[in-house]
Amino acid sequence: MRRYLYIKTFGCQMNVHDSEKMRALMENVGYGETADVKTADLVILNTCSIREKAAQKVYSQLGRLRALKRRKPGLIVGVGGCLAQQWGEKFVEKMPFVDFVVGTHNIHRLPGIVESVENTGIPVVETAFHQTVESLNLVAMPCNGRISAYITIMQGCDNFCSYCVVPHLRGKEESRAFEDVLEEVKILSGRGIKEVMLLGQNVNSYGNTTQGGCDFADLLYAIGRIPAIERIRFTTSHPKDIQDKLVACFSEVDSLCEHIHLPVQSGSNRILQMMNRCYTIDEYCTIVDKLRKACPDISITSDIIVGYPGETDKDFHETITMMEKIRFDSVFSFKYSDREGTAAYGLKGKVPESVKGKRLRTLQSLQDEHTLEKNTSMTGRTEEVIVEGISKNSGDDVYGRTRTNKIVNFRGDQGLIGKTVSVKITEAYLHSLRGILLSHREVTEC
Ligand code: SAH
Ligand code: SF4
Ligand code: F3S
Repeated sequence: MRRYLYIKTFGCQMNVHDSEKMRALMENVGYGETADVKTADLVILNTCSIREKAAQKVYSQLGRLRALKRRKPGLIVGVGGCLAQQWGEKFVEKMPFVDFVVGTHNIHRLPGIVESVENTGIPVVETAFHQTVESLNLVAMPCNGRISAYITIMQGCDNFCSYCVVPHLRGKEESRAFEDVLEEVKILSGRGIKEVMLLGQNVNSYGNTTQGGCDFADLLYAIGRIPAIERIRFTTSHPKDIQDKLVACFSEVDSLCEHIHLPVQSGSNRILQMMNRCYTIDEYCTIVDKLRKACPDISITSDIIVGYPGETDKDFHETITMMEKIRFDSVFSFKYSDREGTAAYGLKGKVPESVKGKRLRTLQSLQDEHTLEKNTSMTGRTEEVIVEGISKNSGDDVYGRTRTNKIVNFRGDQGLIGKTVSVKITEAYLHSLRGILLSHREVTEC
């Protein structure tokens, strides 16, 4: 009898892709997917622990699952991802309805873990770190009809930013072999994928752990030579690892999209040093200048944390000054969240929640002005858009993304989905653009 898996993902794009890998592994052993948790035989929460709020979301979902399992005792409940890695055994001790915990280095073991629970009913916890992470080479092919696919190129992080749990939960940096990444991109291109998103916690240190001396820029040049891949994106980059060779890719690799997510975290050198970020604001601004020189239309987005322990009004003001100077296209901004096990956890000078809240609101309203200003500057221009689907707000419209990663809605129908089209931008909003379809070209044949 066919069994069904319901999987809910929390956190970053790396976790989203890990869920795709889990789905593929379970599909191989006969589990179909269901979007309705009530019809599932197996439920997996793929969790995140980056901030307390992310962990809270998982706990409240687990509360609902406890109730569901009371009504359906045969249901198998598993927890994966970063919170699973962090809590390990504690999950099954404190929440006896949890049947298994699968850590970030053990995804490839998922089918065996589920089989063991099915056969014995005994909880399984697999959270050991391994020297070589087998799951790094797991491949999850996107469903038919998709135009964009994730590809893991490295995993883990050696940077130990003082506030961040990721290095503790994903382990040491490890890059995938150059040939394996290229092979995967070629297979994807043969299946109609037009856009690849290269994933890693710090993609621009790609190659540090592989043989052959190929670095991230070499990888971009190589993928850039695969004709059917129209767009290359990547996330995330650490400013300290941006070399001139990578900057040059933005003018030399045609398929590399004009967008970079480059987390700055703070505008204060004092705070950056405490965060162990290894660059100054002047150095960050120099990188931005080089990127804009190499690629004048580049969209630059960032992450900023407010209220790091010891952050004064002066430090925060420096963040605002930096934002006014750089003018990001958009920013993900967060209140500092204390995470056990990180270097910042024990620091004195914790900033009160009310102050963090006020700083966040100030920062976000300034960023909204900048985002709208950037979006408005695009009106009148003709943009290349790959159509992703029917718009959420109107069945008469479709939406897609520009190369700079901005969402555009315009009149169009189902038949345009997956097509690369030219759209004239007519209106700009905070979270999207509106335009008029000018023309479309068919899928480029390889
Ligand atoms: N590897 C990526 C970021 C991963 S986490 C990189 O280095 O760019 C995504 C973002 O979450 C970080 O850039 C940071 O802004 C934020 N973040 C991480 N830990 C945090 C914490 N303890 N409190 C608040 N925000 C945090
Ligand atoms: Fe966390 Fe810093 Fe590593 Fe990013 S680079 S994952 S913020 S430790
Ligand atoms: Fe969260 Fe882990 Fe990603 S903590 S942000 S799921 S690497």
